Parts: sequence; C-alpha cells; structure tokens
Amino acid sequence: MTPSRKLYVKSYGCQMNVYDSHRMADALAPEGFVETATAADADLIVLNTCHIREKAAEKVYSELGRLRELKDDAASGGRRVTIAVAGCVAQAEGAEILRRAPAVDLVVGPQSYHRLPAMLKQAEHGVVIDTDFPVETKFEHLPAPSPAATRKRGVSAFVTVQEGCDKFCTFCVVPYTRGSEFSRPIAKIVAEAQRLADSGVREITLIGQNVNAYHGDDESGRASSLGQLLYRIADIPGIARLRYTTSHPRDMDDSLIAAHRDLPALMPQLHLPVQSGSDRMLEAMNRRHTRADYLALVDRLRIAQPKIAFTSDFIVGFPGETDEDFEDTLRLMSEVGFAGAYSFKYSPRTGTPAAEKDQIPETIKDERLQRLQREIVRLQDLFLANCRGQTLDVLFDRPGRRPGQIAGRSPYLQPVHVMGPPTLIGTIAPVTITELGTNSLSGVLADAPRHAHSLRESVGA
Ligand code: 5AD
Ligand code: SF4
Repeated sequence: MTPSRKLYVKSYGCQMNVYDSHRMADALAPEGFVETATAADADLIVLNTCHIREKAAEKVYSELGRLRELKDDAASGGRRVTIAVAGCVAQAEGAEILRRAPAVDLVVGPQSYHRLPAMLKQAEHGVVIDTDFPVETKFEHLPAPSPAATRKRGVSAFVTVQEGCDKFCTFCVVPYTRGSEFSRPIAKIVAEAQRLADSGVREITLIGQNVNAYHGDDESGRASSLGQLLYRIADIPGIARLRYTTSHPRDMDDSLIAAHRDLPALMPQLHLPVQSGSDRMLEAMNRRHTRADYLALVDRLRIAQPKIAFTSDFIVGFPGETDEDFEDTLRLMSEVGFAGAYSFKYSPRTGTPAAEKDQIPETIKDERLQRLQREIVRLQDLFLANCRGQTLDVLFDRPGRRPGQIAGRSPYLQPVHVMGPPTLIGTIAPVTITELGTNSLSGVLADAPRHAHSLRESVGA
C-alpha cells in the first residue's frame, strides 16, 4: 500500500475552484494523499488560484512567499514539501510563476487536473508545467469522490456542468483563462448528481462560468438547455434543492424561466450579474443587453416565480463611467430591489480590451464603491427585515455555535439558527423567523419537521 501523505488545498475565488479543489483531492486520494486542514503539516500544498482581479492574483504571490519559508524549514528538518499552483493564475501566467516564486514545483492549469498524479512523479526530478486545453479529457479521467469523502463535505454540493465562456465582456479574463464554452453531457451530470444523492447530498448547485449557456448533449445526441437539465436532476430522489450559478442575462431562455415556475426544488434565488445600470456602460462592457432588457427579464422571472430574489455583481469605475452612469446603476439597484450583491472596483487585466482605455482615477472608484456598498447594505437589510415573521424552509447542515443550537440555510442562502435536535442536520424543516442578525436569521422550528427522517435512510427505500 502507498504510504499516506498529507495534502493541503487552498481555494481562492469562485465556486468552481471549490469544486475543482475537491476533484483534485479525489484525483490524489488513490496516490495515498489524505487532506489536512493546515499547510504546516502538508507534504503537498496546492493553491487553487483566481485571476479575475489584480488583487486576487497578487494574494497568491504573498501566500507563496510565506510557503517558501515553510518549505525551507521543512527541508532543513529533512522533509520534502511540494508546492503546486493550480487554477486561473496558473493558466494565465504559466512559467512566469516559477520566475517570481522559485519555491513552486508544479504549475497546473484548470484543464489538466486529471494529470496531477503523473505530474507529481515528474516533479520529483524538476519543475513541471501543464497549461494545455484538452477540456474533454479532464472530465473523462477525474475519479469520482468516495461516498465517505462526499459525506464529509456536507449536504450541499457543487457540480460543474459547463466551463469556459464565449461572451468576451471587455473587462473579463475568463474567456482567456478558462477558454471557450464546453458543456458536459447530460448523462454524466445526472450520474454524478445521483451518486451525490446516494451519499446524502440534498442540495446541488450546478456551476459554470456562464452556466445558462449550457448546451450539453442528451442521450440521443441532441443539445439540451440548462432548463432541460434542471428538470432531469429534479427527478432524482433525495435532491431537495437545486441552484445554478453564474448566469448571463442574455442566456435566460424560456425553458429556464419555466423551470423556475415548475420545479419546487429550484430555489427562488438567482445570481444574475448586471454589472452596471447604464446602457452606455453595458455597451462598452460588451454585455449585449440593455438596462430595459434586464428589467424585463426580472419581471418575467418574477411572474414565473413570485418569491424569487435576485443578487448581482457590480463593477464601478469602468473606463468612461460618468457620475450619471453611476447614478443609473444606483437607480437600477433599487428598481430591482436586489437581496444582495458583490461589488468591485474595475481592475484592468492585461490582454482585455478595457485595459487599453483611459482609466478612472482610484479616488473616484473608491468613492463610488463606498456609495454602492451602502446601497447594497440598505437593500440587503430591507430584504432581511422582510423575512421576519415568515416561515422559511431551512436545510440544516451543521451544529450552531451555542449549545442546543443547529444551523442551516434558507432558500435565499441566508444562515439561519434555531434551537433544535442535531438529528435534524441533513434535513429540511420550516422555521418561523423571529430575529435578524447582520446577515443571518434566527427563529423557531415551525412544526414537526416534514422531512425529519435522515436522507441516508430515505434514499433507495
Ligand atoms: N475588474 C473588476 N471586476 C471584475 N469582474 C470580472 N472582471 C473584473 C475586472 N477586470 C467581476 C464581475 C464578475 C465577477 C465575478 O467579477 O462583476 O461578475
Ligand atoms: Fe466574464 Fe461572465 Fe462576461 Fe464571460 S459572461 S466574459 S465569464 S463576465
């Protein structure tokens, strides 16, 4: 038997990196790697990096500086530590990483994770770089997690259904780092979801850089939409909740909107980044839709699912953004009544068209970001306040901080705390919301839980 070695994976950025980190751990498990929670005792350290904004990319280099010391200390004690850089910085910067951070042994792009075991062997004899784009082979070769590994990761799981992006928004590196769109076939995704359900997963979030551009083949080789895929997964016994992220407003087709009307498992919450509320900026960003298109889409989704709540991403200080453009964004925010949002100062990325334009001064970006964030907090507080007195289904996933407490997530992903038995963990029960926290809710169990039996007992029965 291979002796056990310790693996530490640190994920930066988006949920796809979290999913990929799990898949890397799954690929390395047959090599005897067991995950550890700290870098200090690891034999292999993988940084799964993000390149979306400059800050995210720079974080990796400061982490690599710290890890260099750790590696040197271990070496002086006769222990070899291998350091790998994975993810989008690996893809975008390749050999440059080895120049800036000589402690790195291995650079692996997001499409090559299935080759990690072989690369590790090569790394024993010198540095290795693999940033190829053979996208199909990765999904074919990555092993499935063991049921025990799945159970340890909890009741909510991500499943990648689509990778890459062909939209080419003028600020974004994703089409360059993750390549062109690729969709996994329906049968593979359904099988993965089924396996997760069998291991106790109750909530699945389908992920992709441009998830609603999904167009994977069905069993007869016909391209299917994300809506069609959702209907298929909703049929799997045990899967009580479905989500998908991240969507582009242009790709919300009729079947996806119908899925929000028809599927009780599809949560009434949608992350639908608009980036800006100004038509001028939307055009300059190459978003290919107007403010009116976005508002009309929000209306259609609200008709299909009246309880739906929207969240968004916003960029402030995009080249050419005037005060008036920015005011348009603030107006759009309250018009939609977003339940929450992420906000970013525009960060010029080498190789993208907007990076070549005249830039907005940093002080203006800072000011706008602060105003936008105040508006986000105001809207988020309004949304939370509206939850008081409501009875919301909560998927319990962990013990609470206080004794006797359990915690979970509402349909809107807010953390919810109640006093209740630990036997409810892994199940969904209605909770009447009585108190509001800063971004969390507390309440009381509303009645005898509807799904108080554990999933592990119910599946396959
Ligand atoms: N600068 C600032 N924010 C960006 N995003 C993507 N690229 C940039 C950039 N160059 C934001 C967008 C996107 C989110 C994931 O990151 O809002 O939706
Ligand atoms: Fe980037 Fe999303 Fe635009 Fe694709 S759709 S280029 S991932 S912001």
